[in-house]
Amino acid sequence: MLFVFFLFVCFKQVELHVHLDGAIKPETILHFGKKRGIPLPGDTVEDLLELISYSEPLTLTQFLEKFALYMPAIAGDRDAVRRIAYEFVETKAKEGVIYVEVRYSPHLLANCKVHPVPWDQEEGDLTPDEVVHLVNQGLQDGERDFNIKARSILCCMRHMPSWSLEVVELCKKYQNNTVVAIDLAGDELVSETFPEHRKAYEEAERCGIHRTVHAGEVGPPSVIKEAINVLKTERIGHGYHVLEDPALYRELLSKKMHFETCPWSSILTGACDPDFRKHPLIQFRKDKANYSLNTDDPLVFNSSIETDYRIAKQSLDFTEEEFKRVNINAAQSSFLPEKEKKELLSKLYEAYGMVPNNPS
Ligand SMILES: *[C@@H]1O[C@H](CO)[C@@H](O)[C@H](O)[C@H]1NC(C)=O
Ligand SMILES: *[C@@H]1O[C@H](CO)[C@@H](O)[C@H](O)[C@H]1NC(C)=O
Ligand SMILES: *[C@@H]1O[C@H](CO)[C@@H](O)[C@H](O)[C@H]1NC(C)=O
Ligand SMILES: [Zn+2]
Repeated sequence: MLFVFFLFVCFKQVELHVHLDGAIKPETILHFGKKRGIPLPGDTVEDLLELISYSEPLTLTQFLEKFALYMPAIAGDRDAVRRIAYEFVETKAKEGVIYVEVRYSPHLLANCKVHPVPWDQEEGDLTPDEVVHLVNQGLQDGERDFNIKARSILCCMRHMPSWSLEVVELCKKYQNNTVVAIDLAGDELVSETFPEHRKAYEEAERCGIHRTVHAGEVGPPSVIKEAINVLKTERIGHGYHVLEDPALYRELLSKKMHFETCPWSSILTGACDPDFRKHPLIQFRKDKANYSLNTDDPLVFNSSIETDYRIAKQSLDFTEEEFKRVNINAAQSSFLPEKEKKELLSKLYEAYGMVPNNPS
């Protein structure tokens, strides 16, 4: 108990895999639903959470349906988009996170110049470009007010190849203005990777935009191989199923590939066996793999980063030493420029009372 408390209030963390649209405060959804006259499945935080969040594994389709319950209240509204970014930073600061990379699809928050218009919205005037601008403002205001660092990652969606080239253009336009990387999210089992996704990732590589890909979460090791060989990804979102291909796993260990793992999410999405004793993280830890611990979609999983650390400690026998190692790896694998990465690492070493191995 004491240790959990210690984690919650003062253990400094780095989070690399969390979706902005899966990390909205229920109060904010209610506020904008009411203000905009958009019906929601509940009038109180409790009622809303009862329907939006869940705590037993669901299929990916059922999981994705959760977003449709509340995204209409947020998408297409300038104040809402800016506010969720700002509040996100506030929440993370309270959780003890000192650096976070938050990801989202600009298209899924827009209602103009996006086809099809998502969430059954009527066409409006908020474009994906302006969404990125607003999120950047929210994040930067949050950084200033809550004194942590926040960067963003723009997501391509597997089933929406027609959006991907625009996503990489937005990464270019807003590079260094919070945006650090491109991601590919959505249903891994959708089909082979569309040529548009490949082109977007080629362009990202050409322009020095960092790359991560959701792969091997529910999909087979072949999706991870493709992410590495074709999309030239630098990190793997989740990646649990890499263990089904021992040769690939050994190769990735030797390359020090970073896995963005999300313990509670991995159970609730059905990505991993609910029996924690079989959890891939146990193998990753044993092999001193390069991975981080993340929340993924804390609104939908009714969780906070503390939930994931508690699971790691109580069900996976993680020690404080391992938590430190995980966060140092996360900082080293972050998409910050080298100088800022060093600053972040120094902060962690100091918070953990450690002397860095390679002072430089
Ligand atoms: C969500 O989590 C909070 C605190 O962890 C708990 O009190 C609440 O009952 C949960 N809500 C639902 C709908 O599961
Ligand atoms: C972003 O920063 C990098 C490294 O500091 C630099 O090479 C690049 O030109 C910058 N991009 C933009 C669009 O300012
Ligand atoms: C994880 O990757 C980062 C970035 O490449 C690297 O600096 C770090 O040493 C890696 N960690 C492990 C345990 O391989
Ligand atoms: Zn994710």
